Amino acid sequence: MLFPTKSSPLVFYLNGDKVVDEHVNPEWTLLTYLRNKRRLPGTKLGCAEGGCGACTVMVQRFDRENKKIVNYAVNACLTPVCTVHGMAVVTVEGIGNVAKGLHPVQERIAKSHGSQCGFCTPGIVMSMYTLIRNKNVPSMDDVEVAFQGNLCRCTGYRPILEGFKTLTVEGGAGGCCGAGKQSGGCCGGQVMNGGCCMQNGAGCPNGAVENGVANDEVSLFDPSTFKPYDPQAEPIFPPELQLTEKYDQQYLVFNGERVTWYRPTKIEQLLELKATYPYAKLVVGNTEIGVEVKFKNLHYPVIIQPNHVPELVDIRVEDKGVRFGAAVTLSQIEDVLREQITKKPAYKTRVFSAIVEMLRWFAGKQIRNAAAVGGNIITGSPISDLNPLFMAAHCELVLRSKNETRVVQMDDSFFTGYRKNILKSEEILTSILIPYTKEDEYFWGFKQAKRRDDDIAIVNAGMFVRFSVGTNVIANINLAFGGMAPTTVMARTTASSLIGHQWNEGVVEVASKTLIEDLPLAASAPGGMIEFRRSLTLSFFFKFYMIVQEQLSKKLPYVKPLPPQYKSAINLYHRDAPESIQLSQIVPSGQPDYDLVGRPVAHVSAMKQATGEAVYIDDMPKFENELYLALVMSSRAHAKILSIDASEALEMEGVVDFVSAKDIPNERNSVGGVIHDETVFAIDEVTCVGHIIGAIIANDQATAQRAAKTVKISYEDIQPAIITIQDAIKHNSFFHDWTKIIKNGDVEKGFREADHTLEGEMYLGGQEHFYLETQAAIALPKLEDGEMEIFSSTQNPSEIQLLAAEVLGVPENRIVVRTKRMGGGFGGKETRGMLVALPVAVAAQKLKRPIRCMLDRDEDMACSGTRHPFLCKYKVGFKSDGKLTALKLTMYNNAGNSLDLSASVMERAVFSADNAYNISNVDFTGIVCRTNIPSNTAFRGFGGPQGMMFCENIMDQISDKLGMDSVKLRTLNMYKEGDKTHYKQSLSYCTLSRCWNECLENASYEQRLAEVAAFNKENRWRKRGLAAVPTKFGIAFTALFLNQAGALVIVYRDGSVLMSHGGTEMGQGLHTKMIQVASRALEISADKIHIMETATDKVPNTSPTAASAGSDLNGMAVLNACKTIKERLEPYMKANPKGKWDDWVNSAYFDRCNLSATGFYKTPDIGFNFKEQTGTPFNYFCFGAACAEVEIDCLTGDHEVRRVDIVMDVGESLNPAIDIGQVEGAYMQGYGLYTLEELRFSPQGFLLTKGPGMYKLPGFADIPQKFNVSILRGAPNPKAVFSSKAVGEPPLFLAAATFYAIKDAIKAARTENGKTGPFRLDSPATAERIRMACEDQFTQKFPPATPGSFKPWSVFA
Ligand SMILES: Cc1cc2nc3c(=O)[nH]c(=O)nc-3n(C[C@H](O)[C@H](O)[C@H](O)COP(=O)(O)OP(=O)(O)OC[C@H]3O[C@@H](n4cnc5c(N)ncnc54)[C@H](O)[C@@H]3O)c2cc1C
Ligand code: FES
Ligand code: FES
Repeated sequence: MLFPTKSSPLVFYLNGDKVVDEHVNPEWTLLTYLRNKRRLPGTKLGCAEGGCGACTVMVQRFDRENKKIVNYAVNACLTPVCTVHGMAVVTVEGIGNVAKGLHPVQERIAKSHGSQCGFCTPGIVMSMYTLIRNKNVPSMDDVEVAFQGNLCRCTGYRPILEGFKTLTVEGGAGGCCGAGKQSGGCCGGQVMNGGCCMQNGAGCPNGAVENGVANDEVSLFDPSTFKPYDPQAEPIFPPELQLTEKYDQQYLVFNGERVTWYRPTKIEQLLELKATYPYAKLVVGNTEIGVEVKFKNLHYPVIIQPNHVPELVDIRVEDKGVRFGAAVTLSQIEDVLREQITKKPAYKTRVFSAIVEMLRWFAGKQIRNAAAVGGNIITGSPISDLNPLFMAAHCELVLRSKNETRVVQMDDSFFTGYRKNILKSEEILTSILIPYTKEDEYFWGFKQAKRRDDDIAIVNAGMFVRFSVGTNVIANINLAFGGMAPTTVMARTTASSLIGHQWNEGVVEVASKTLIEDLPLAASAPGGMIEFRRSLTLSFFFKFYMIVQEQLSKKLPYVKPLPPQYKSAINLYHRDAPESIQLSQIVPSGQPDYDLVGRPVAHVSAMKQATGEAVYIDDMPKFENELYLALVMSSRAHAKILSIDASEALEMEGVVDFVSAKDIPNERNSVGGVIHDETVFAIDEVTCVGHIIGAIIANDQATAQRAAKTVKISYEDIQPAIITIQDAIKHNSFFHDWTKIIKNGDVEKGFREADHTLEGEMYLGGQEHFYLETQAAIALPKLEDGEMEIFSSTQNPSEIQLLAAEVLGVPENRIVVRTKRMGGGFGGKETRGMLVALPVAVAAQKLKRPIRCMLDRDEDMACSGTRHPFLCKYKVGFKSDGKLTALKLTMYNNAGNSLDLSASVMERAVFSADNAYNISNVDFTGIVCRTNIPSNTAFRGFGGPQGMMFCENIMDQISDKLGMDSVKLRTLNMYKEGDKTHYKQSLSYCTLSRCWNECLENASYEQRLAEVAAFNKENRWRKRGLAAVPTKFGIAFTALFLNQAGALVIVYRDGSVLMSHGGTEMGQGLHTKMIQVASRALEISADKIHIMETATDKVPNTSPTAASAGSDLNGMAVLNACKTIKERLEPYMKANPKGKWDDWVNSAYFDRCNLSATGFYKTPDIGFNFKEQTGTPFNYFCFGAACAEVEIDCLTGDHEVRRVDIVMDVGESLNPAIDIGQVEGAYMQGYGLYTLEELRFSPQGFLLTKGPGMYKLPGFADIPQKFNVSILRGAPNPKAVFSSKAVGEPPLFLAAATFYAIKDAIKAARTENGKTGPFRLDSPATAERIRMACEDQFTQKFPPATPGSFKPWSVFA
C-alpha cells in the first residue's frame, strides 16, 4: 500500500476562529503553537511535563456515535498540535477579557482572591471552565477531581475553592443545596426572603459560616456581585465540525524537517504503516512520548496517530468482560466501568471497581483525558498503576500485525525487561479485555505515592483471590506488584504456597515470609526507600487480607468478622468538601469610601491574571531580531574543565553563537549575592552539577535547547565531591569566616542546674521554590553608550543592574532593569535571577541583538538552588517541671557551591532558634557548609523555619521524656511582654500569649485532645495526632543597609497618579497594598493610582523585596512621597475648598508647582553587631500560633490533615484578604516543607527530583479538611505603616504544627507496638518516614542495610 506523502493542512478551530495551517511542524506541541505561532500567551508553560496544569486548555470534538459534543481539558504542553485536527480548542483568551467582560469563572477566581502571582490562574480557570461546560452545576467533589492536575504555589488553594464553590451544588448554584444545617453552608431549604439564601444574596441563616466568613465579620468577597453562570451564553461549537465528517475521515500526513506524522483511519492502513516503519511510535496521549522527547532527548522520526482507527477506539461489553480499544482514553474507561458497576451485580465488577478507584489517583484529569490504556500497558513502566491490576486480573490482550493476530493473557511473561514486552516491532496492541469476577473471586488494588493525588506510585499492587465454591479455601491467588523490580512482577512463590489455605491470619504469616523472597530489593536499588517499599508489600497484603476477611465474614457464618479496631484500616479514602473560616477586622464605620486601607480589595492585577492578559517576561512580544539563549551546564559535581567543544552546535541551522567565559574578561566574570565567589560562566572548574558553563544563542528556543545538548565538555574529576552536610563535616568544608554564634548566660551552669538533659540530632531537608514562572529575562541592548534594558523576573532589580553593569564593564547608569511582575518568587529570585539575566546581558552585548531566555522547569531546578537543608545537633537541660535551663545548638546548613545568602540565612536561624521560648542560658552556633551542589539561597522564612523547627523538636522531645502535655510545656516556657531574647532585644507589644490562647480556644484543644485519645484507643491501624506550635518572627533585614526604601509619586495634569516604589510584585499583593496606602495618604480613589512596574531608573538603589519587609519599607516611602505631594497641594485645596482633586492638581500645574515627589524611608534604631553581640536586630516581631490535627495510616504512612486553626498577629491589616491569603499560602508552603517536599541527589550530586513528576508540592487535595484562619484583632503595631505588620514569612513556620501532630499520631502507634519515649523523626514527615517510624511487625522484617556496605541510590544533601 502506498501512503500519501504530500503534507496535509492542519485544520482546527481556535477560540471560534478557523485555523488552516499548510505548514505545521509535527514536533510542535499545542502550547508552542498557541504561544509562538498564534501569539496567545495566556496559556502558560510551567513544567512541560503535564505536572502543573498551567497550560490547561479545553478541547472540543463532536462524538458522532453518540451525537454529542465532548469537552475535555488537556495539557497543551504535551498535546501534539497535529492531534487537534478537526477539533475546537478554547484557551483562556477565548472565554473572556477585561475589556469585553470576564467569564463567570474568571470573575470568581479574581474576586475571591484566588489569584496571587497569577501564573497558575489561566490553567485553573480552564480546568474549571471545562468542568462547568460538561456539568453546569458541579459538586465540590467534581471540582476537586478537576483540579488534580493543577498546582498553585501561592494561594494555599482555599480561596480558589471558595470562589468556585459559588458555582457548585454546595454553593447553591443549582438551587438550594439541601445540605442544610449540618454543613452550615446553606439555608437547607428554609428559604430566606423568598428564595434560597445562596441565590438571593441574603446570606446563610445557619451556623456562623457563609462563604467561609463568620457573619459578624466582613466578607472577603461579595458573591452577590458575581455574574450568574448562563450556559446558554457560551459560544457555540463550530457548526462545520458538527456537520461534516471529513476532518475525522482524512488520512493525514504532516511532514516536518525531522518528523513525519501519519494519521490513518483504517486498521489495514495502520498495520501497513507499522509494517513499513517498524520503528515508528504510536502516539495517542503523548504523555509518555512527549516526556521522553523533551527530557530524555529522544527522537522519533515517524509517528503514527492511531486513534482515528475504529478498532482502536471501540468499546464493547462482552460475555467475559468489557473490551476496550487500545486508544481509548483513561477517562473514557473510567466512565464506562462506572456505568457497568451501577448496572451489574457488585460481585461481577470487583476488578472494575479496583480500576476506577486506581484511576482516581492516576495523574490529573488532563492526563487521563488524553492518555490511553494502550500507552500505559506498552510503556511497561515498573510503576504503571494499571499493569498490576491487569496482571492480577489476567486481562486478555489482542496483538496485531499485518500478517498475524495474537491473543495473549496479561501476566508476568508479558514484560521481558525494563520497559520491554513481547510485542514484535511490527505489532501493535489493538484491545484489552477486562474480565468480570465471579461470586467467589475478590479483587483489590493498592497504591502508595508521595502525594495522594496526581503522583506516580512508590509501590502499587493488584490482588486477586478465588476460593473454592462456597468456602474460604484459596483456589487461586494472583499478587502483582509495581515498584519492586524493573518490571511489574507477580509473587509466584507466595501464590503457590497459599493455595489450599483457609483465609485466616495464617495466610498473613505465610505471605509475610514468602513475599520477602518473591520481592527482594537490593540496598542500592533505583528509587531508594528500600525498607519502606518492602514493608509496603506486606502492608498491602495485610490490608487485602482484612478486606477479604470482612467480605467473607458477611457470607460465611464460620468466618469471624474483623475486630472493630481493625475496620478503619480498610476504609476507602474519602474526603468531604473542605470547610474554612476566616476572621478578621472590619474597617471603622465612617472610613471614607476612597480610603482602601483595611479593606479586603482584590489584587490589582487579579482580573488580568484570570483572563491571561497579565504579561510575564516570556509573554512580552518578540523584539525584532530577537534571539533565544539556552544554558549549557555542568554534568559533574566537581571537576576541571579540560575542553569545551561547541562546533556541532554551531553547525546546526539557526544557531548563531556560543557564549562562554571567553566572552568576559576574567576580572569581570566574577559575581555573587554578598561576596563575588561565583562566575557568570565557569572559567576552568565546575563546582556543581548545573554550574553554568556557557550558552547557545539561536533563532528560537527549540533550536537553542537542542544545540545546547550537543556541546561537548570534557572534564577531569576533582576529589572530593562534597554533596551532603555530613560530607562537609567530614572534610571540614565550611565557609569558615561566616560562622554565626549567639551566646547568652552560661549553658554549662544551666546544664548543671537541670534535672535532665537530652542530646540528639535532627535533619531538615531543603525545599524547591517552584515559583510557577521559572527564571526569565530579556536583554535589550541599545545601540549607544553601552545602554541596555533588562527585563527580569527578579525580586532584586537593583542587584541585577549592579551586577550587569560590572560584568558588561559599564557604569550602572547605562543599565535599566525592569520588573513588571513575577510568577512567584518566594526568595528564589532574590539573587538567583542573575543566573539568567547576566548570560542574556553578555550575549546581548556581544551580538548587539535582543536576547531572551526563560528556563525550562528542569533547567531551573538543576541550577537555581533551594531552601537550605539543615542539620542540628543539640543538648538541652530542663527541670522536672519542664522549665528549660540551658540549650546548646550547633546548626549546619548546606550552602552549596557559593556563599550567596547562606550566612544571612544561618544568621536568621541563629536568631530564631529560641522560637517563642525564654531560655536563660543558650549557646547557638551556625556553621555554613561549602559543598558541590548548586548554591542554596533565600526562601520564605530565610532560616527562621529551620531554627524554629529545631527548637520545637526539642520541646517535643522533652514532653515525651517527661510524659508532659506538650501544650503545657510550651506555655510554661513561653515569652511574655518585656522578656528579653537571647540577643537581648526586649519584647514589646508581645501578643504571643494572646495568639496562643486564642488559637487553643478556637481549636477546642482540650476537648479534642480527649477525642483524639478516644479515637486512638478504638483504632489499631489508623491514629490521630494533635499538636500546637507558637511562632515569633523578627522583622527587618539583618543586614542593616538593606532597611531602606524609596518611592516616586508623579501626578499628571488629568489628576492621574503614577506611582513607583522599590518593591517588586511577585503575587504577594505589594502593589495593591501600596495603592491602598496612597489612596489614604492622597485622599483619592484608587482608580486614579497606577503602578506600571518596578524600574531602576524610577527608584534607585533599592533593596530586594524580601524579609517580609516590602510593605513596611516601601509603604513608608510611599507615604512619605504622598505627604510631600499633599503638602504641595495644600494651598490650592485651601484656595478652593469645594474643589476636587483634579481641580487642585490643575491649579497647581498652572501655578508651576512640582507634581512629582520622591519618598524615602530607613528603619530607625536597628542594627546588630555580631562580634560584640550588641544592638537591636529587629524593628518588631510578628506572633502567631497554630493547632493541627492529622490522621495517619500506620500501614502505609499516608496522612490527612483533618483540621488546622491559626491565629496570626498582622497588626492592623492593610488588606485582610491579602493577609489571610499570605497566611494560608505560607501555611501550605510550610506544610510542603515539613511533610511532603523532598529533594534527593544521587551520590554524584545530580538532583534526581527534578520537575513536578518527581518533586511533589502540595496540591488542592492537601489542604486541611477544616482550615480556620483568624487575624488577631485589636493589635495595632506602632512600628509600621498604618499600624500594620509584615505577613509574608512569619506564618510559614506554623505548618510545623502538622509535623508535630503527625509525630503525635506516630507516638500513639508506637505505644501500641510497645515503644515509648523520645524518638527521632526528621523532616519532612513523608509517607516513608511515617511508616517506618510506626515500627511494627512488618517493618521489623526489614532492618536497614549497614551504611557504607552499599552505594545508595540517593542521598539527602
Ligand atoms: C504528569 C503525568 C502523570 C502521570 N501519572 C501516571 C500515574 O499516576 N500512573 C501511571 O501509571 N502512569 C502515569 N503517567 C504515565 C502515562 O500517562 C501513562 O502511561 C499513559 O497511559 C500513557 O498513554 P499515552 O496515550 O499518553 O501514551 P503515548 O505517550 O502516546 O505512548 C506511550 C507508548 O506506548 C506506545 N503505544 C501506545 N499505544 C500503542 C498501541 N496501541 N500499540 C503499541 N504501542 C502503543 C507508544 O508507541 C509509546 O511507546 C503519567 C504521565 C504524566 C505525564
Ligand atoms: S506546563 Fe503543561 S502541565 Fe505544566
Ligand atoms: S497564584 Fe497560583 S502559582 Fe501564583
